[in-house]
Amino acid sequence: TSTSQPYRTGYHFQPPKNWMNDPNGPMIYKGIYHLFYQYNPKGAVWGNIVWGHSTSTDLINWTPHDAAIYPTQPSDINGCWSGSATMLPGGKPAILYTGIDPDNKQVQNLAVPKNLSDSYLREWVKSPRNPLMAPTATNHINASFFRDPTTAWLGPDKRWRVIIGSQTKDKGLAFLYRSKDFVYWTKAKHPLHSENHSGMWECPDFFPVSTNSRKGVDTSIIGLNTKHVLKASVGKIPHDCYIIGTYNVTADKFIPEEGSMNGVSALTYDYGKFYASKTFFDIAKNRRILLGWINESSTQEDDIKKGWSGLQAIPRGLWLDKSGKQLVQWPIPEVEKLRAKKVNLSSKLLRGKSLLPADVEISFEITKFEKAEVLDPNWTNPQLLCSQKGASVKGALGPFGLLVLASKNLKEYTAVFFRIFKNKNKYAVLMCSDQNRSSLNNDNDKTTYGAFLDVDPVHETLSLRSLIDHSIVESFGGGGKACITARVYPTLAIDDEAHLYAFNYGTEKINVTSLSAWSMKTAQIN
Ligand code: FRU
Repeated sequence: TSTSQPYRTGYHFQPPKNWMNDPNGPMIYKGIYHLFYQYNPKGAVWGNIVWGHSTSTDLINWTPHDAAIYPTQPSDINGCWSGSATMLPGGKPAILYTGIDPDNKQVQNLAVPKNLSDSYLREWVKSPRNPLMAPTATNHINASFFRDPTTAWLGPDKRWRVIIGSQTKDKGLAFLYRSKDFVYWTKAKHPLHSENHSGMWECPDFFPVSTNSRKGVDTSIIGLNTKHVLKASVGKIPHDCYIIGTYNVTADKFIPEEGSMNGVSALTYDYGKFYASKTFFDIAKNRRILLGWINESSTQEDDIKKGWSGLQAIPRGLWLDKSGKQLVQWPIPEVEKLRAKKVNLSSKLLRGKSLLPADVEISFEITKFEKAEVLDPNWTNPQLLCSQKGASVKGALGPFGLLVLASKNLKEYTAVFFRIFKNKNKYAVLMCSDQNRSSLNNDNDKTTYGAFLDVDPVHETLSLRSLIDHSIVESFGGGGKACITARVYPTLAIDDEAHLYAFNYGTEKINVTSLSAWSMKTAQIN
Protein backbone atom coordinates (compact mmCIF):
# COMPACT_ATOMS: atom_id res chain seq x y z
CA THR A 1 0.00 0.00 0.00
CA SER A 2 1.03 3.55 -0.49
CA THR A 3 0.02 6.66 1.37
CA SER A 4 -2.30 7.55 -1.49
CA GLN A 5 -4.05 4.15 -1.19
CA PRO A 6 -4.06 3.39 2.56
CA TYR A 7 -7.16 1.18 2.33
CA ARG A 8 -6.03 -1.36 -0.27
CA THR A 9 -5.51 -4.79 1.21
CA GLY A 10 -2.43 -6.86 1.94
CA TYR A 11 -4.07 -10.28 1.72
CA HIS A 12 -7.77 -9.91 0.97
CA PHE A 13 -8.75 -10.45 -2.66
CA GLN A 14 -9.51 -7.39 -4.74
CA PRO A 15 -9.11 -6.47 -8.42
CA PRO A 16 -6.40 -3.94 -9.35
CA LYS A 17 -9.10 -1.31 -9.71
CA ASN A 18 -12.85 -0.72 -10.21
CA TRP A 19 -16.02 -2.19 -8.77
CA MET A 20 -16.41 -5.80 -7.59
CA ASN A 21 -19.41 -7.52 -6.02
CA ASP A 22 -20.50 -11.16 -5.73
CA PRO A 23 -18.12 -14.12 -5.95
CA ASN A 24 -19.27 -16.34 -8.84
CA GLY A 25 -18.70 -19.91 -9.97
CA PRO A 26 -15.98 -20.90 -7.47
CA MET A 27 -14.53 -24.33 -8.24
CA ILE A 28 -11.39 -26.42 -8.37
CA TYR A 29 -10.41 -27.76 -11.78
CA LYS A 30 -7.26 -29.80 -12.42
CA GLY A 31 -5.84 -28.61 -9.10
CA ILE A 32 -6.45 -24.92 -9.83
CA TYR A 33 -8.96 -22.86 -7.86
CA HIS A 34 -11.11 -20.48 -9.86
CA LEU A 35 -12.74 -17.33 -8.60
CA PHE A 36 -15.02 -15.36 -10.88
CA TYR A 37 -16.63 -12.18 -9.63
CA GLN A 38 -19.14 -9.53 -10.61
CA TYR A 39 -16.98 -6.78 -12.07
CA ASN A 40 -17.41 -3.36 -13.67
CA PRO A 41 -14.49 -2.89 -16.08
CA LYS A 42 -15.39 0.79 -16.46
CA GLY A 43 -15.49 2.22 -12.96
CA ALA A 44 -15.71 2.07 -9.17
CA VAL A 45 -19.51 1.92 -8.97
CA TRP A 46 -21.88 -0.92 -9.92
CA GLY A 47 -22.66 -1.30 -13.65
CA ASN A 48 -21.57 -2.89 -16.98
CA ILE A 49 -21.33 -6.22 -15.19
CA VAL A 50 -18.99 -8.96 -16.53
CA TRP A 51 -17.34 -11.96 -14.86
CA GLY A 52 -13.85 -11.03 -13.70
CA HIS A 53 -11.58 -14.06 -13.32
CA SER A 54 -8.59 -15.04 -11.19
CA THR A 55 -6.99 -18.39 -10.40
CA SER A 56 -4.97 -19.72 -7.49
CA THR A 57 -3.34 -22.84 -6.12
CA ASP A 58 -4.01 -21.95 -2.47
CA LEU A 59 -7.05 -19.59 -2.46
CA ILE A 60 -4.82 -16.84 -1.01
CA ASN A 61 -2.40 -15.88 -3.81
CA TRP A 62 -4.14 -15.08 -7.09
CA THR A 63 -3.28 -14.66 -10.76
CA PRO A 64 -5.54 -12.39 -12.81
CA HIS A 65 -7.03 -13.35 -16.17
CA ASP A 66 -9.15 -11.54 -18.72
CA ALA A 67 -12.87 -11.37 -18.08
CA ALA A 68 -14.31 -14.85 -18.61
CA ILE A 69 -17.96 -14.08 -19.40
CA TYR A 70 -19.14 -10.80 -20.85
CA PRO A 71 -22.16 -9.68 -22.92
CA THR A 72 -22.17 -11.22 -26.41
CA GLN A 73 -25.62 -12.77 -26.87
CA PRO A 74 -29.08 -11.21 -26.74
CA SER A 75 -29.67 -13.27 -23.58
CA ASP A 76 -26.91 -11.44 -21.69
CA ILE A 77 -26.47 -8.25 -23.67
CA ASN A 78 -27.38 -6.03 -20.70
CA GLY A 79 -25.19 -7.77 -18.14
CA CYS A 80 -23.72 -11.08 -16.98
CA TRP A 81 -24.96 -11.41 -13.43
CA SER A 82 -24.31 -13.96 -10.72
CA GLY A 83 -24.17 -17.70 -11.17
CA SER A 84 -22.46 -20.94 -10.19
CA ALA A 85 -20.33 -23.75 -11.53
CA THR A 86 -21.27 -27.44 -11.56
CA MET A 87 -18.94 -30.38 -12.30
CA LEU A 88 -20.58 -32.58 -14.92
CA PRO A 89 -19.69 -36.27 -15.29
CA GLY A 90 -16.18 -36.67 -16.64
CA GLY A 91 -15.05 -33.61 -14.67
CA LYS A 92 -16.38 -31.05 -17.13
CA PRO A 93 -17.31 -27.72 -15.56
CA ALA A 94 -20.48 -25.93 -16.62
CA ILE A 95 -21.55 -22.45 -15.57
CA LEU A 96 -25.15 -21.31 -15.18
CA TYR A 97 -25.50 -17.55 -14.79
CA THR A 98 -28.12 -14.85 -15.03
CA GLY A 99 -28.14 -12.73 -18.16
CA ILE A 100 -30.01 -9.48 -18.63
CA ASP A 101 -31.75 -9.57 -22.01
CA PRO A 102 -32.67 -6.72 -24.39
CA ASP A 103 -35.94 -6.14 -22.47
CA ASN A 104 -34.03 -6.10 -19.17
CA LYS A 105 -35.54 -9.44 -18.24
CA GLN A 106 -33.53 -11.78 -16.03
CA VAL A 107 -32.89 -15.13 -17.75
CA GLN A 108 -30.56 -18.10 -17.10
CA ASN A 109 -27.72 -19.01 -19.45
CA LEU A 110 -25.17 -21.81 -19.83
CA ALA A 111 -21.46 -21.45 -20.62
CA VAL A 112 -18.85 -24.23 -20.91
CA PRO A 113 -15.06 -24.13 -21.29
CA LYS A 114 -13.77 -23.76 -24.84
CA ASN A 115 -10.72 -25.88 -24.14
CA LEU A 116 -10.84 -28.45 -21.33
CA SER A 117 -7.08 -28.93 -21.45
CA ASP A 118 -6.53 -25.32 -20.36
CA SER A 119 -6.57 -25.65 -16.56
CA TYR A 120 -6.97 -21.86 -16.33
CA LEU A 121 -10.29 -22.13 -18.22
CA ARG A 122 -9.65 -18.79 -19.85
CA GLU A 123 -12.23 -19.02 -22.61
CA TRP A 124 -15.90 -19.86 -22.28
CA VAL A 125 -18.43 -20.77 -24.96
CA LYS A 126 -22.08 -19.95 -24.47
CA SER A 127 -24.85 -22.33 -25.40
CA PRO A 128 -26.60 -21.45 -28.67
CA ARG A 129 -29.81 -22.44 -26.85
CA ASN A 130 -29.54 -19.58 -24.34
CA PRO A 131 -31.57 -18.56 -22.48
CA LEU A 132 -32.32 -21.94 -20.96
CA MET A 133 -34.76 -20.62 -18.36
CA ALA A 134 -36.81 -17.48 -18.73
CA PRO A 135 -39.92 -15.76 -17.39
CA THR A 136 -42.85 -16.41 -19.73
CA ALA A 137 -46.50 -15.42 -20.00
CA THR A 138 -47.52 -18.73 -18.42
CA ASN A 139 -44.96 -19.46 -15.68
CA HIS A 140 -45.84 -16.37 -13.59
CA ILE A 141 -42.21 -15.49 -12.91
CA ASN A 142 -41.50 -11.83 -12.30
CA ALA A 143 -38.78 -10.91 -14.82
CA SER A 144 -37.14 -8.54 -12.30
CA PHE A 145 -36.84 -11.25 -9.66
CA PHE A 146 -35.37 -14.31 -11.32
CA ARG A 147 -31.68 -14.69 -10.82
CA ASP A 148 -28.53 -16.28 -9.38
CA PRO A 149 -28.65 -20.02 -10.23
CA THR A 150 -26.90 -22.31 -7.72
CA THR A 151 -24.52 -25.18 -8.29
CA ALA A 152 -26.76 -27.97 -9.61
CA TRP A 153 -27.11 -31.35 -7.91
CA LEU A 154 -27.93 -34.75 -9.36
CA GLY A 155 -30.91 -36.67 -7.98
CA PRO A 156 -31.23 -40.48 -7.78
CA ASP A 157 -33.43 -40.26 -10.91
CA LYS A 158 -30.36 -38.96 -12.83
CA ARG A 159 -31.90 -35.55 -13.29
CA TRP A 160 -30.06 -32.36 -12.44
CA ARG A 161 -31.70 -29.84 -10.16
CA VAL A 162 -30.93 -26.18 -9.72
CA ILE A 163 -32.60 -23.37 -7.80
CA ILE A 164 -33.04 -19.74 -8.84
CA GLY A 165 -33.73 -16.92 -6.38
CA SER A 166 -37.00 -15.06 -6.66
CA GLN A 167 -39.77 -13.10 -5.00
CA THR A 168 -43.57 -12.99 -5.47
CA LYS A 169 -45.23 -10.11 -3.63
CA ASP A 170 -42.99 -10.01 -0.55
CA LYS A 171 -42.54 -13.76 -0.35
CA GLY A 172 -38.99 -14.90 -1.00
CA LEU A 173 -38.55 -18.22 -2.78
CA ALA A 174 -36.24 -20.56 -4.64
CA PHE A 175 -37.64 -21.83 -7.94
CA LEU A 176 -36.61 -25.40 -8.75
CA TYR A 177 -35.74 -26.57 -12.28
CA ARG A 178 -34.84 -30.07 -13.48
CA SER A 179 -32.90 -31.28 -16.49
CA LYS A 180 -31.58 -34.54 -17.93
CA ASP A 181 -28.94 -32.97 -20.15
CA PHE A 182 -28.16 -29.59 -18.47
CA VAL A 183 -29.60 -27.83 -21.54
CA TYR A 184 -33.36 -28.42 -21.49
CA TRP A 185 -34.68 -27.33 -18.10
CA THR A 186 -38.24 -27.74 -16.80
CA LYS A 187 -39.65 -25.76 -13.92
CA ALA A 188 -40.95 -27.86 -11.04
CA LYS A 189 -44.51 -27.14 -9.87
CA HIS A 190 -43.38 -26.22 -6.37
CA PRO A 191 -40.43 -24.13 -5.30
CA LEU A 192 -37.78 -25.91 -3.23
CA HIS A 193 -38.72 -23.58 -0.37
CA SER A 194 -40.31 -20.19 0.25
CA GLU A 195 -40.97 -17.85 3.14
CA ASN A 196 -43.48 -15.06 3.51
CA HIS A 197 -42.20 -11.52 4.11
CA SER A 198 -38.58 -12.43 3.48
CA GLY A 199 -38.31 -10.41 0.24
CA MET A 200 -36.10 -11.27 -2.73
CA TRP A 201 -33.79 -14.25 -2.23
CA GLU A 202 -30.57 -13.24 -3.94
CA CYS A 203 -27.74 -15.69 -4.47
CA PRO A 204 -29.35 -18.79 -2.95
CA ASP A 205 -27.09 -21.70 -2.02
CA PHE A 206 -28.17 -25.26 -1.22
CA PHE A 207 -25.78 -27.95 -0.04
CA PRO A 208 -25.35 -30.92 2.30
CA VAL A 209 -23.23 -30.87 5.46
CA SER A 210 -21.97 -33.89 7.37
CA THR A 211 -23.56 -34.56 10.77
CA ASN A 212 -20.51 -36.36 12.17
CA SER A 213 -17.46 -34.71 10.62
CA ARG A 214 -16.00 -31.35 9.66
CA LYS A 215 -15.32 -32.69 6.20
CA GLY A 216 -17.32 -31.28 3.34
CA VAL A 217 -19.45 -33.40 1.05
CA ASP A 218 -20.24 -33.16 -2.64
CA THR A 219 -23.29 -31.09 -3.52
CA SER A 220 -25.13 -34.12 -4.93
CA ILE A 221 -24.92 -36.18 -1.71
CA ILE A 222 -28.37 -36.74 -0.18
CA GLY A 223 -29.23 -38.38 3.16
CA LEU A 224 -26.78 -40.66 5.04
CA ASN A 225 -25.26 -38.65 7.90
CA THR A 226 -26.03 -35.32 6.29
CA LYS A 227 -28.31 -32.40 6.78
CA HIS A 228 -28.98 -29.71 4.19
CA VAL A 229 -28.40 -25.98 4.39
CA LEU A 230 -30.43 -23.43 2.44
CA LYS A 231 -28.93 -19.96 2.35
CA ALA A 232 -30.25 -16.77 0.79
CA SER A 233 -29.01 -13.19 0.68
CA VAL A 234 -31.91 -11.17 2.02
CA GLY A 235 -33.12 -8.18 3.87
CA LYS A 236 -33.32 -4.44 4.00
CA ILE A 237 -30.16 -4.69 6.04
CA PRO A 238 -28.36 -7.08 3.71
CA HIS A 239 -27.42 -10.37 5.35
CA ASP A 240 -26.70 -13.94 4.32
CA CYS A 241 -29.20 -16.01 6.30
CA TYR A 242 -29.44 -19.78 6.37
CA ILE A 243 -31.72 -22.54 7.57
CA ILE A 244 -30.66 -26.07 8.54
CA GLY A 245 -32.98 -28.91 7.59
CA THR A 246 -33.39 -32.00 5.50
CA TYR A 247 -33.87 -32.43 1.78
CA ASN A 248 -36.74 -34.70 0.80
CA VAL A 249 -35.68 -35.67 -2.71
CA THR A 250 -38.91 -37.55 -3.49
CA ALA A 251 -41.05 -34.50 -2.85
CA ASP A 252 -38.16 -32.25 -3.97
CA LYS A 253 -38.68 -30.07 -0.92
CA PHE A 254 -36.49 -28.60 1.73
CA ILE A 255 -37.82 -29.33 5.24
CA PRO A 256 -36.45 -26.78 7.74
CA GLU A 257 -35.71 -28.02 11.23
CA GLU A 258 -36.37 -24.63 12.73
CA GLY A 259 -35.52 -21.04 12.09
CA SER A 260 -36.30 -18.61 9.32
CA MET A 261 -34.70 -16.64 6.51
CA ASN A 262 -35.45 -13.30 8.05
CA GLY A 263 -35.59 -11.33 11.28
CA VAL A 264 -33.28 -10.92 14.26
CA SER A 265 -33.34 -14.61 15.18
CA ALA A 266 -32.30 -15.86 11.71
CA LEU A 267 -28.99 -17.70 11.60
CA THR A 268 -26.51 -15.55 9.72
CA TYR A 269 -23.12 -16.38 8.22
CA ASP A 270 -21.67 -13.07 9.33
CA TYR A 271 -23.33 -10.43 11.51
CA GLY A 272 -21.31 -7.60 9.97
CA LYS A 273 -20.70 -6.96 6.27
CA PHE A 274 -20.78 -10.13 4.19
CA TYR A 275 -23.18 -10.71 1.30
CA ALA A 276 -23.99 -12.70 -1.82
CA SER A 277 -21.77 -15.52 -0.62
CA LYS A 278 -21.42 -18.93 -2.18
CA THR A 279 -19.90 -22.27 -1.18
CA PHE A 280 -18.19 -24.94 -3.25
CA PHE A 281 -16.95 -28.44 -2.49
CA ASP A 282 -13.16 -28.64 -2.63
CA ILE A 283 -12.63 -32.23 -3.72
CA ALA A 284 -8.84 -31.92 -3.30
CA LYS A 285 -9.14 -31.33 0.45
CA ASN A 286 -12.62 -32.69 1.16
CA ARG A 287 -13.94 -29.47 2.55
CA ARG A 288 -16.70 -27.00 1.79
CA ILE A 289 -15.43 -23.48 1.30
CA LEU A 290 -17.40 -20.27 1.67
CA LEU A 291 -16.61 -17.08 -0.25
CA GLY A 292 -18.38 -13.78 0.36
CA TRP A 293 -18.42 -10.21 -0.89
CA ILE A 294 -17.54 -7.42 1.57
CA ASN A 295 -18.73 -4.06 0.30
CA GLU A 296 -17.43 -0.63 1.28
CA SER A 297 -18.62 1.48 4.19
CA SER A 298 -17.37 4.65 2.51
CA THR A 299 -19.34 7.06 0.33
CA GLN A 300 -19.67 6.49 -3.39
CA GLU A 301 -17.78 9.75 -3.88
CA ASP A 302 -14.83 8.35 -1.90
CA ASP A 303 -15.01 5.06 -3.82
CA ILE A 304 -14.72 6.95 -7.11
CA LYS A 305 -11.82 8.95 -5.67
CA LYS A 306 -9.90 5.83 -4.63
CA GLY A 307 -10.90 4.11 -7.87
CA TRP A 308 -12.16 0.83 -6.45
CA SER A 309 -14.89 -0.74 -4.40
CA GLY A 310 -15.42 -4.19 -2.87
CA LEU A 311 -13.34 -7.01 -1.33
CA GLN A 312 -13.73 -10.74 -0.91
CA ALA A 313 -13.60 -12.26 2.57
CA ILE A 314 -10.78 -14.69 3.34
CA PRO A 315 -12.16 -18.05 2.17
CA ARG A 316 -13.68 -19.93 5.11
CA GLY A 317 -14.06 -23.61 5.77
CA LEU A 318 -17.63 -24.33 6.85
CA TRP A 319 -19.16 -27.27 8.69
CA LEU A 320 -22.04 -28.20 11.01
CA ASP A 321 -21.47 -27.48 14.69
CA LYS A 322 -21.60 -30.54 16.96
CA SER A 323 -24.88 -29.22 18.38
CA GLY A 324 -26.32 -29.65 14.88
CA LYS A 325 -28.02 -26.29 15.34
CA GLN A 326 -25.68 -23.93 13.53
CA LEU A 327 -22.73 -23.79 11.14
CA VAL A 328 -19.15 -23.00 12.13
CA GLN A 329 -16.76 -21.08 9.89
CA TRP A 330 -12.99 -20.75 10.11
CA PRO A 331 -10.46 -19.08 7.79
CA ILE A 332 -8.81 -21.73 5.59
CA PRO A 333 -5.43 -22.84 7.05
CA GLU A 334 -3.65 -21.62 3.88
CA VAL A 335 -3.91 -18.05 5.20
CA GLU A 336 -1.54 -19.03 8.02
CA LYS A 337 1.27 -19.34 5.44
CA LEU A 338 1.28 -15.55 5.40
CA ARG A 339 2.01 -15.30 9.11
CA ALA A 340 5.39 -13.66 9.53
CA LYS A 341 6.77 -12.20 12.72
CA LYS A 342 5.08 -13.60 15.79
CA VAL A 343 4.63 -11.09 18.54
CA ASN A 344 5.58 -12.61 21.86
CA LEU A 345 4.15 -11.10 24.97
CA SER A 346 5.73 -11.89 28.26
CA SER A 347 3.13 -9.90 30.11
CA LYS A 348 0.39 -11.69 28.19
CA LEU A 349 -1.06 -8.29 27.47
CA LEU A 350 -0.72 -6.51 24.19
CA ARG A 351 0.21 -2.96 24.79
CA GLY A 352 0.01 -0.95 21.67
CA LYS A 353 1.96 -3.15 19.31
CA SER A 354 2.27 -1.68 15.84
CA LEU A 355 1.09 -4.54 13.68
CA LEU A 356 -0.51 -4.37 10.23
CA PRO A 357 -1.74 -6.41 8.49
CA ALA A 358 -2.19 -8.96 11.24
CA ASP A 359 -3.77 -12.18 12.43
CA VAL A 360 -4.55 -12.26 16.15
CA GLU A 361 -5.88 -15.04 18.36
CA ILE A 362 -6.77 -14.46 21.99
CA SER A 363 -8.49 -16.60 24.62
CA PHE A 364 -10.10 -15.50 27.84
CA GLU A 365 -10.95 -17.21 31.09
CA ILE A 366 -13.48 -15.92 33.56
CA THR A 367 -13.46 -17.28 37.09
CA LYS A 368 -15.84 -15.02 38.97
CA PHE A 369 -19.32 -14.57 37.57
CA GLU A 370 -21.16 -13.14 40.61
CA LYS A 371 -21.24 -9.56 39.36
CA ALA A 372 -22.50 -10.38 35.86
CA GLU A 373 -25.30 -8.06 34.77
CA VAL A 374 -28.69 -9.66 34.21
CA LEU A 375 -29.82 -9.95 30.62
CA ASP A 376 -33.08 -8.06 30.20
CA PRO A 377 -35.61 -10.33 28.40
CA ASN A 378 -36.27 -7.41 26.02
CA TRP A 379 -32.68 -7.45 24.82
CA THR A 380 -33.32 -9.85 21.96
CA ASN A 381 -31.52 -7.89 19.25
CA PRO A 382 -27.77 -8.34 19.76
CA GLN A 383 -26.84 -5.65 17.24
CA LEU A 384 -28.98 -3.11 19.06
CA LEU A 385 -27.54 -4.20 22.40
CA CYS A 386 -24.00 -3.77 21.06
CA SER A 387 -24.80 -0.29 19.80
CA GLN A 388 -26.35 0.71 23.14
CA LYS A 389 -23.48 -0.84 25.08
CA GLY A 390 -20.51 0.10 22.93
CA ALA A 391 -16.85 -0.34 23.79
CA SER A 392 -16.81 2.77 26.01
CA VAL A 393 -19.73 1.66 28.20
CA LYS A 394 -18.31 0.15 31.38
CA GLY A 395 -19.90 -3.08 32.56
CA ALA A 396 -19.08 -5.86 35.01
CA LEU A 397 -17.97 -8.80 32.81
CA GLY A 398 -16.89 -6.76 29.84
CA PRO A 399 -16.41 -5.09 27.54
CA PHE A 400 -13.17 -7.01 27.02
CA GLY A 401 -11.44 -7.92 23.77
CA LEU A 402 -9.26 -6.23 21.16
CA LEU A 403 -8.78 -2.70 19.96
CA VAL A 404 -7.52 -2.99 16.39
CA LEU A 405 -6.41 -0.42 13.83
CA ALA A 406 -5.87 1.86 16.79
CA SER A 407 -3.89 5.09 16.71
CA LYS A 408 -1.37 5.52 19.51
CA ASN A 409 -3.41 8.17 21.28
CA LEU A 410 -6.58 6.03 20.81
CA LYS A 411 -8.25 8.80 18.85
CA GLU A 412 -9.09 6.02 16.41
CA TYR A 413 -9.77 2.33 16.99
CA THR A 414 -12.15 -0.46 16.08
CA ALA A 415 -13.26 -2.47 19.12
CA VAL A 416 -14.06 -6.17 18.89
CA PHE A 417 -15.19 -7.41 22.26
CA PHE A 418 -17.39 -9.55 24.48
CA ARG A 419 -19.83 -8.93 27.32
CA ILE A 420 -21.18 -11.64 29.57
CA PHE A 421 -24.66 -11.46 31.05
CA LYS A 422 -26.49 -13.62 33.52
CA ASN A 423 -29.40 -15.28 31.71
CA LYS A 424 -31.62 -17.32 34.06
CA ASN A 425 -29.33 -20.07 35.36
CA LYS A 426 -26.86 -19.71 32.46
CA TYR A 427 -24.70 -17.01 30.92
CA ALA A 428 -25.16 -15.24 27.62
CA VAL A 429 -22.13 -14.10 25.65
CA LEU A 430 -22.51 -11.05 23.45
CA MET A 431 -19.93 -10.42 20.72
CA CYS A 432 -19.66 -6.90 19.28
CA SER A 433 -17.72 -5.02 16.63
CA ASP A 434 -17.91 -1.30 17.39
CA GLN A 435 -16.83 1.00 14.55
CA ASN A 436 -17.85 4.29 16.21
CA ARG A 437 -14.28 5.42 16.73
CA SER A 438 -12.80 3.70 13.69
CA SER A 439 -12.14 6.87 11.73
CA LEU A 440 -12.02 10.62 12.18
CA ASN A 441 -13.80 10.79 8.82
CA ASN A 442 -17.48 10.90 9.69
CA ASP A 443 -18.71 10.29 6.14
CA ASN A 444 -18.22 6.55 6.61
CA ASP A 445 -20.94 4.18 7.78
CA LYS A 446 -19.89 3.25 11.31
CA THR A 447 -22.78 0.97 12.23
CA THR A 448 -22.08 -1.30 15.21
CA TYR A 449 -22.59 -5.05 14.70
CA GLY A 450 -23.38 -7.75 17.22
CA ALA A 451 -24.29 -11.37 17.77
CA PHE A 452 -25.00 -13.75 20.63
CA LEU A 453 -22.33 -16.42 20.80
CA ASP A 454 -23.30 -19.97 21.78
CA VAL A 455 -20.38 -20.53 24.16
CA ASP A 456 -20.72 -21.47 27.83
CA PRO A 457 -18.10 -19.26 29.50
CA VAL A 458 -18.18 -21.35 32.69
CA HIS A 459 -16.98 -24.56 31.04
CA GLU A 460 -15.44 -23.42 27.75
CA THR A 461 -12.68 -20.98 26.90
CA LEU A 462 -13.88 -17.90 25.14
CA SER A 463 -11.78 -17.14 22.09
CA LEU A 464 -11.55 -14.40 19.50
CA ARG A 465 -9.62 -14.29 16.24
CA SER A 466 -9.36 -11.19 14.08
CA LEU A 467 -7.91 -10.88 10.58
CA ILE A 468 -6.88 -7.25 10.25
CA ASP A 469 -6.01 -5.77 6.86
CA HIS A 470 -5.89 -1.97 6.33
CA SER A 471 -9.64 -1.41 5.85
CA ILE A 472 -11.16 -4.72 6.88
CA VAL A 473 -11.48 -6.54 10.21
CA GLU A 474 -12.86 -10.08 10.04
CA SER A 475 -13.58 -11.47 13.49
CA PHE A 476 -14.41 -15.02 14.58
CA GLY A 477 -15.83 -15.65 18.05
CA GLY A 478 -15.88 -19.02 19.82
CA GLY A 479 -13.82 -20.79 17.15
CA GLY A 480 -16.11 -19.51 14.37
CA LYS A 481 -19.57 -19.84 15.94
CA ALA A 482 -20.20 -16.15 15.30
CA CYS A 483 -18.44 -14.08 12.64
CA ILE A 484 -18.46 -10.31 12.27
CA THR A 485 -16.76 -8.44 9.43
CA ALA A 486 -16.33 -4.67 9.42
CA ARG A 487 -14.95 -2.15 6.93
CA VAL A 488 -13.13 0.81 8.47
CA TYR A 489 -11.08 3.72 7.12
CA PRO A 490 -8.67 5.08 9.71
CA THR A 491 -7.05 8.42 9.03
CA LEU A 492 -4.37 8.13 11.73
CA ALA A 493 -4.11 4.37 12.35
CA ILE A 494 -2.47 3.71 8.99
CA ASP A 495 0.48 1.38 8.25
CA ASP A 496 3.07 1.72 11.07
CA GLU A 497 0.67 3.85 13.07
CA ALA A 498 -1.88 1.03 13.28
CA HIS A 499 -1.66 -0.54 16.73
CA LEU A 500 -3.23 -3.43 18.50
CA TYR A 501 -4.35 -3.58 22.13
CA ALA A 502 -6.03 -6.13 24.34
CA PHE A 503 -8.43 -4.42 26.73
CA ASN A 504 -10.81 -5.04 29.59
CA TYR A 505 -13.05 -2.14 30.48
CA GLY A 506 -15.28 -4.17 32.80
CA THR A 507 -14.95 -3.99 36.58
CA GLU A 508 -14.31 -7.73 36.95
CA LYS A 509 -11.07 -9.53 36.29
CA ILE A 510 -10.65 -11.43 33.02
CA ASN A 511 -7.64 -13.72 32.44
CA VAL A 512 -5.97 -13.88 29.07
CA THR A 513 -5.09 -17.57 28.78
CA SER A 514 -3.43 -17.37 25.37
CA LEU A 515 -2.51 -14.71 22.94
CA SER A 516 -0.79 -15.00 19.58
CA ALA A 517 -0.39 -12.25 17.07
CA TRP A 518 1.37 -12.32 13.76
CA SER A 519 2.13 -9.68 11.19
CA MET A 520 1.08 -10.90 7.76
CA LYS A 521 3.10 -11.06 4.57
CA THR A 522 1.54 -9.55 1.48
CA ALA A 523 -0.29 -12.02 -0.73
CA GLN A 524 -0.01 -11.95 -4.49
CA ILE A 525 -3.33 -10.50 -5.50
CA ASN A 526 -3.66 -9.39 -9.07
C1 FRU B 1 -26.30 -9.56 -5.37
C2 FRU B 1 -26.76 -9.25 -6.81
C3 FRU B 1 -27.30 -10.48 -7.49
C4 FRU B 1 -27.11 -10.14 -8.95
C5 FRU B 1 -25.80 -9.38 -8.93
C6 FRU B 1 -25.71 -8.29 -9.94
O1 FRU B 1 -25.35 -8.65 -4.91
O2 FRU B 1 -27.72 -8.22 -6.78
O3 FRU B 1 -28.63 -10.78 -7.14
O4 FRU B 1 -27.04 -11.28 -9.75
O5 FRU B 1 -25.67 -8.84 -7.63
O6 FRU B 1 -24.43 -7.74 -9.98
